[in-house]
Amino acid sequence: MRHFRKIGVLAGLALSVSAAALNAYASEPTVPPEPAPFPAEGKIKYVARDSILEFKALPEYNEPDWVKKNFVDTGKLPPVKDRLPKEPLVFKTENMPDGIGVYGDTMRHVIGGRPEGWNYGAGQTQGWGGIDIGLSECLTRTAPLFQVEAKDTEPLPNLAKSWEWSEDGHKLTMHLIEGAKWSDGAPFNADDIMFYWEDEVIDPNVSPLGGGASPEAFGTGTTLKKIDDYTVEWTFKEAFPKQYLYTMAYPNFCPGPSHVLKPQHPKYSKNTYDQFKNAFPPEYMNMPVMGAWVPVEYRPDDIIVLRRNPYYWKVDEKGNQLPYLNELHYKLSTWADRDVQAVAGSGDFSNLEQPENFVASLKRAAEKTAPARLAFGPRLIGYNLRMNFSANGWGDPDARGQAIRELNRNEDFRKAVTMAFNRKAVGDSLVKGPFTAIYSGGLSSGTSFYDRQSTLYYPYDLEGARAGLAEAGLKDTDGDGFVNFPAGQAGGKNVEIVLLVNNDYATDKSLAEGVVGQMEKLGLKIIINALDGPKRDDAHYAGRFDWLIQRNTTELASVVQNTEQLAPVGPRTSWHHRAGKDDQLDLMPFEKELVDIVNKFRTSQDNDERVRLMKEYQKISTEHVNTVGLTEYPGALIINKRFSNIPQGTPIFMFNWAEDSVIRERLWVAADKQQKYELFPEQLPGKPGEKGPLN
Ligand code: GLA
Ligand code: CA
Repeated sequence: MRHFRKIGVLAGLALSVSAAALNAYASEPTVPPEPAPFPAEGKIKYVARDSILEFKALPEYNEPDWVKKNFVDTGKLPPVKDRLPKEPLVFKTENMPDGIGVYGDTMRHVIGGRPEGWNYGAGQTQGWGGIDIGLSECLTRTAPLFQVEAKDTEPLPNLAKSWEWSEDGHKLTMHLIEGAKWSDGAPFNADDIMFYWEDEVIDPNVSPLGGGASPEAFGTGTTLKKIDDYTVEWTFKEAFPKQYLYTMAYPNFCPGPSHVLKPQHPKYSKNTYDQFKNAFPPEYMNMPVMGAWVPVEYRPDDIIVLRRNPYYWKVDEKGNQLPYLNELHYKLSTWADRDVQAVAGSGDFSNLEQPENFVASLKRAAEKTAPARLAFGPRLIGYNLRMNFSANGWGDPDARGQAIRELNRNEDFRKAVTMAFNRKAVGDSLVKGPFTAIYSGGLSSGTSFYDRQSTLYYPYDLEGARAGLAEAGLKDTDGDGFVNFPAGQAGGKNVEIVLLVNNDYATDKSLAEGVVGQMEKLGLKIIINALDGPKRDDAHYAGRFDWLIQRNTTELASVVQNTEQLAPVGPRTSWHHRAGKDDQLDLMPFEKELVDIVNKFRTSQDNDERVRLMKEYQKISTEHVNTVGLTEYPGALIINKRFSNIPQGTPIFMFNWAEDSVIRERLWVAADKQQKYELFPEQLPGKPGEKGPLN
């Protein structure tokens, strides 16, 4: 640690400083520079949490005329009141930006991903871009909380319509929505919850999409049991772990239809786990969902079409069954094309998140004739370089890989790497202007828990970084410009680090090239392993990487959502440090501190304490370079002007992505603005597994 000088400017930072550190010659760690303000920041309109929704029976219910005429009056469907639960979820008018809506029209999404199949609970992607978010309904919901003041925040009820804690805080009883149905009319009840928990979350051979729903995400030793058809009971080792209510939101507790899944699960059939996972390929239509729209058409590399779910269990205060929009499209294209089409008006929605597209998009959106509005939110999009910290077997590294893991665990090495990044140049290479900010890792500067004074930044200093590598025992012994392992290790060869990168995003690839270039100056040879989204994720979750580039996930943008991912609190909660085959973690001392902090945070009831804990987290995690921050910047929501009810200032990312935060089931298009984009007008989803929609 000798070359890292610690000095007094870090007032408030109780860093452990060895005396030797004072002999340093590298530049001084400091707080990151104040980020530049940027244009067009949307202001959030804050509301009270209980002004958003409630559960109650209404005197009457309505649906689109064509559903009644073509389906109810002909006896194909029961009347709407019999399709709805006893007490539907009612969105309150006071919280609707433009009030109660009218039926009709389509939302045209464009995505860069491709569907693997519909088995979300077994880890299959549907192509992202909000498609799975719309299909899945979860016990609780957090995305709309961006508009609720932090002190008032608790997840919103959803499939769980209410809950209460036992006096000692170890038991949580949840009441499920009563009488709700899957999109094929089958009843939804506690059996769906129990199948998800016992046969997907707890079953080690199954891991739901997103990689986060491991049992320990709900606390070590947590159990769940069915009390009756509409009641389940959680038992926790800790008292009042209210944090887990967030874990019960997307993506971790969104049960699938057990009536079609269970017969395919290896426990109840002759299927292998692979066969189970692949039992619902993209061609399988009308997969039962609890979401507002059901997939009815799939054309490879072209489009996925979804039609309204006639059993959807949410209504407005006038009793109009939601959604207002009849159809959703997911054009199968590229992520960059999503921005292009949204600003051009041939698509309806984009999260502008790739800075390479900022300038052109802003220009077009500023024109009077622009079909879409574009609004920037807080600086919540960020990227980290993550080093694989597992030295005990995660991903079965060979000798070279193992030697890299040991280096990754060497603090001198990590500090050298972080100091060798010219973050200004990295940011400017994506987009010039005030957007990108110096990000040294840890919590996003856009979250309410961020504290700049608790954030440690090792400024760009190539000399110091080189000295740091030498300190870590790495020298260029053969004079080719790249440092070698010491003679006794990995054959004294050049240190070669394989960097796992997502091939679907231009930004990820530009950042990877930036890493290669900057590390080359330091004398480290980086080899890019760019894989398509799902393959990249498989390699990641299986631990097959030395380093990887990762766009920040919700724990860094919200802190309260997916909190367990902030540290290795369980064998599979961290993005870059998971257990080997023996399920044991080999934590470094600073990681133990992070684990303690995160565990305290998860069970603390005291807001001030939680704020303090996160300052501490930020301090330790940035001091010890838990992750190497690359850049952060704001994203903008682009949405066609014809849509009503878009909440003001919706961030593209916070508790979840904007596709959830805008509450799509509540969006509508005024009659005089409606377009004829519906591909299956006046049709509804058909039977599970059968082709196409029902006439
Ligand atoms: C992808 C996109 C995001 C968002 C999410 C939703 O990751 O890049 O902008 O649409 O899908 O899951
Ligand atoms: Ca060399």
